[in-house]
Amino acid sequence: MSEFAMEPLVRNAWYIGAWSHELDEGPIARRIMGQDLVLFRSGDGSAAALEDRCCHRGVKLSLGKPVETGIQCGYHGMVFDGSGACVENPGEKLSPAHRVRAYAVAERQNFVWIWTGDPELADESRIIDFPYHDRTDEYNFHFGRYDIAANYMFMMDNLMDLTHLGYVHGTTIGGNPQEHDEAVMTTTRTEHGAHFNRAMPNSTPPPAFKKAAGFKGQIDRWMDFEYVAPATVLQWAGIHDAGTGGLDDPAKPGGLLLRVFHHATPADDSNFHYFFSTAVRGEPYDGKGNTGFHEDVLEAFEEDRLFIEAQQEAVGADPGRKLILREHDKAVAYSRQAIHRMQAAEMPAAAE
Ligand code: FES
Ligand SMILES: [Fe+2]
Repeated sequence: MSEFAMEPLVRNAWYIGAWSHELDEGPIARRIMGQDLVLFRSGDGSAAALEDRCCHRGVKLSLGKPVETGIQCGYHGMVFDGSGACVENPGEKLSPAHRVRAYAVAERQNFVWIWTGDPELADESRIIDFPYHDRTDEYNFHFGRYDIAANYMFMMDNLMDLTHLGYVHGTTIGGNPQEHDEAVMTTTRTEHGAHFNRAMPNSTPPPAFKKAAGFKGQIDRWMDFEYVAPATVLQWAGIHDAGTGGLDDPAKPGGLLLRVFHHATPADDSNFHYFFSTAVRGEPYDGKGNTGFHEDVLEAFEEDRLFIEAQQEAVGADPGRKLILREHDKAVAYSRQAIHRMQAAEMPAAAE
């Protein structure tokens, strides 16, 4: 196990393979946990994930097309269902030997979760519950995905230490750097990760918040972040005009209430797929606040990408070297402890 640099991947976990709506546009070729997969939706509506390699001549199945019973290889027309079995072998008999590797998939709340670890341990009760995606009368989410060339934990570190906001995101979601450094933090360990609550009374509204909710003066900013190992951060934030009680009751009417979901699915140990969704409470999908906020978030996450990929380049050149912790890194440290516990749980299996 490394310490505060690149983390080895945790195999036995659910990761997001795709957003549900991505599968509606056809098969997706995606590298996940070091394996090239094809994710698709059969004509019967079910989502599936298979190795992206036909058992006949090894062609990528992602070049094929979804059919009623599965995915049809584009080369000679063999069809594989979601279990990986060949269910059509044009002009020939079916054989149990004709199959490809399949992975467990669970689709809900616009997520297509995938399990690439030990199939015996694929417990759906461990999948993160995020009901807000379904509450479209209250929240109307925008969805995004970036491919980022870095170890996935660098994204988790980024989200669990927000003192970068004033420096990296000054023109978008940031604000005043000193006010971020002085935020009042409550940080705790949780069973599967870490949680912090962050209060910034009477602080400067960042440009994105002014645009989304029209703040004229100072704001009370309340933020709540939870890391759930290995790869999810759940965020919500309530922002109100300063001195109007928003820190005691962040969800009170008015102001700006944000829900943001973050997930980093490892492609391999130095690349990940960053899945995120954003919503402004009460705003329709293409309302000014909701759409404008998402556009600012897209820009902000490009700002993060710049730093995270530069970090990967430097750290990857000498991965054995330790990094230091600052006092602000309590939530980062707790998060790393959680991921180390998951790695430790996999070690006996790996040694067998
Ligand atoms: S390579 Fe797929 S059917 Fe021949
Ligand atoms: Fe950031």
